[in-house]
Amino acid sequence: ASILVLHGPNLNLLGSREPEVYGHTTLADIDSRLQTLASEAGHHLQSLQSNAEYELIERIHLARSEDINFIIFNPAAFTHTSVALRDALLGVAIPFIEVHLSNVHQREAFRHHSYFSDIAQGVICGLGAQGYELALEAAIAQLPD
Ligand code: DQA
Repeated sequence: ASILVLHGPNLNLLGSREPEVYGHTTLADIDSRLQTLASEAGHHLQSLQSNAEYELIERIHLARSEDINFIIFNPAAFTHTSVALRDALLGVAIPFIEVHLSNVHQREAFRHHSYFSDIAQGVICGLGAQGYELALEAAIAQLPD
């Protein structure tokens, strides 16, 4: 099956960005680990990080024509702001898991609301980079080869 991993704004800074909150793992480390795990399980995985809302929206639209079966999404700050990304995911109707490195519920009140959680298959937060691996494991468990 085909899996798409999407990372929202500022996640390109992972590794150096507020390491006490987000850890020392870089985005390249995360993506290559996911790539390895997916290909070991016989799946195809692509990933994209963007700081631009419209790029993420267009990537989600493209996912439908590419027959992407599953999306793993860390919308980053767009989690708390983006009706447009929510509507894109509803529009393509591809199942997704929402991932956050940090435990957003332990943080500022404005991070407690997500525009995605009620339409996500599941939500993982607070487990750092491992959260992406757990999301991938959950996706693989339900996807056909
Ligand atoms: C984040 C949490 C968001 O609140 C924040 O804006 C981010 C990253 C996380 O992975 O913990 O940029 O999605």
